[in-house]
Amino acid sequence: MGIFLPDEWIDEVRERNDIVDVISEYVHLKPQGRGFVGLCPFHAEKTPSFHVNPEKQLYHCFGCGVGGNVFTFIMAVEKLEFVEAVKFLAERVGMALPQTTDAEEFIRSKSRTERIYEVNREVARYYHRMLFSPEGGQALSYLKARGLDLNIIRRFGIGYAPDGWENAKQYLLKQGFEEELLIQAGIVVSTKGRTYDRFRNRVIFPIIKPRGLVVGFGGRVLDDSLPKYLNSPESPVFHKGSTLFGLNLVRKASSLDYIIIAEGYMDVVTLHQFGFKTAVASLGTSLTQQQAKVIRRYTQQVYIAYDGDAAGQKATLRGLDILQDAGLKVKVILFPQGMDPDEVLRKYGAEFFKKLMDKAVPLVDYKLDRLRSQYDLQTSEGRARYATEAAKILIQVPNLLERDVHIQRLEAQTGFSSRLLYQQIAQLEGSAQKEGVKRQLIGNNRYIDKMPGGKESMPSHIKAERYLVNLMASSNWLAKKVVEKVEPQYFEEPINREIFNIVVELLNSGKEVSIPQVLSSIQDQDKIQQMVEIFELPVEYDNIDKFISDCIDEIMYHNLEKRRQEVVRLIRQMEQEGKQATDTYRALLSEMAVLTRKVAASRHRKEGIL
Ligand code: UTP
Ligand code: MN
Repeated sequence: MGIFLPDEWIDEVRERNDIVDVISEYVHLKPQGRGFVGLCPFHAEKTPSFHVNPEKQLYHCFGCGVGGNVFTFIMAVEKLEFVEAVKFLAERVGMALPQTTDAEEFIRSKSRTERIYEVNREVARYYHRMLFSPEGGQALSYLKARGLDLNIIRRFGIGYAPDGWENAKQYLLKQGFEEELLIQAGIVVSTKGRTYDRFRNRVIFPIIKPRGLVVGFGGRVLDDSLPKYLNSPESPVFHKGSTLFGLNLVRKASSLDYIIIAEGYMDVVTLHQFGFKTAVASLGTSLTQQQAKVIRRYTQQVYIAYDGDAAGQKATLRGLDILQDAGLKVKVILFPQGMDPDEVLRKYGAEFFKKLMDKAVPLVDYKLDRLRSQYDLQTSEGRARYATEAAKILIQVPNLLERDVHIQRLEAQTGFSSRLLYQQIAQLEGSAQKEGVKRQLIGNNRYIDKMPGGKESMPSHIKAERYLVNLMASSNWLAKKVVEKVEPQYFEEPINREIFNIVVELLNSGKEVSIPQVLSSIQDQDKIQQMVEIFELPVEYDNIDKFISDCIDEIMYHNLEKRRQEVVRLIRQMEQEGKQATDTYRALLSEMAVLTRKVAASRHRKEGIL
């Protein structure tokens, strides 16, 4: 009892326990829209209204109104106090409890994992220095010959592991790292009582997590010898299945338009050099659920940039299905035969690449195209088999309008009537009925979720307040934008003022501003719930600066109007009391005039905005 849990440690517990993973252990979740839905574990229901938002790391039930973050969820389902819930989640991901109740001592006594991060960082620096030493001359020329400029080499921290058996090992031992640690980190290999450097005479690509921690390395030969790439082994800090190369350089905006997934190190580096700064790679393995979940926190849309023949391979297609099942929209970029993104960019440039992106095909189309090429549509048997297989693909398309487009095309290709094709699909689907949130199309492709039981009639200035705090809680740059222009006393809802202050505090202490971070700055369950309701409001805009100033106008209008009504009331009261001759009365009259003018101007500006 009374155990001391350092903030950093609690943050790490939260970050390592993805809310979708945790809740999936209690609730069957299905992807829907920007997140997941399931049956609420906190009240009895037949149609799912329990939503989990991976981007914001929160849950919210539109049926009974509960909501919160991963900690409040565990508190509620496991009936635990806050500290117990944190410990429960730490155990879930194998994190050791802080050994001590003393803050300083905790920081001094570093765990093994932290030492591995330390040695990784040290050796990454060493490799990087070596690239610019005389020994690294050849490697540097190799990279330059492949078109990399110095900027990008620095940004990725690319390095060189010198030729020889013990260069890194001796260097690190001298720095005071024990040999055992080097082996655990995978930097040194140990066989038959002999230990030596894993990476020798190779160009080194450090693999770095979004928080800046080096987890492992990939090393490429400088010629055609094999193996072409050598990677660090799995270690206490390196789990290939949940790591994406390049993700550390992807800016965590509140929502990215898209992420590009390539196959290899060089593809990612070149993509970044050519301005595609949301490119990552899955390092030679098929995509996993964990990777999909990580990506889902950044964006809704992914572009697959694998070389032509690679994307169609069975194992790869499975990986793409995993992305789709995680709620991502997947488009496949088609490359000229046998070329990978690196080669395409070098040869044809960024403009051409952008064109290929514009022409990228949705996963379903891609699969249907591939399928069609496997059958002979000249024969009736070929047409029947193609239609049968195509129907299996089409049940994965939830949007009925989209599905209809495919069915029409299928009808034209196979000659089977669309009625028959619909029946075939319906049969496959069984009687599974889609329920829950209905998406409504509004205007130029913007949609809002009509949530069952959602609050529809909210005064527009409250909405504007909520939009603003919602925005400011989602990233540092948005926070700064809003803080510049607004003061907390403008807000009417106390909870909004509170969010405002939390965000300012995070900014001042140099911490990351994000919705999960804001939510874990407080422990009061009721407040967390109120905040979740605000963070769940969908915020959509075309022009962020205009959106922010519109919201501020709305709030200012409300403040002015409130004061004007107050002044009107005061004036009446004074007139009734016969105090027209006083200075106060005259001051009120002139304030009234100013307010009326301001209110009119402000109404004019905000006309029809929110
Ligand atoms: P590729 O063989 O397509 O190489 O492997 P590449 O990325 O185009 O590399 P360059 O352009 O020849 O330098 C794709 C990815 O598969 C993994 C690596 O992550 C590589 O980037 N791979 C490949 C290995 O891990 N080991 C290998 O021997 C080969
Ligand atoms: Mn390549």
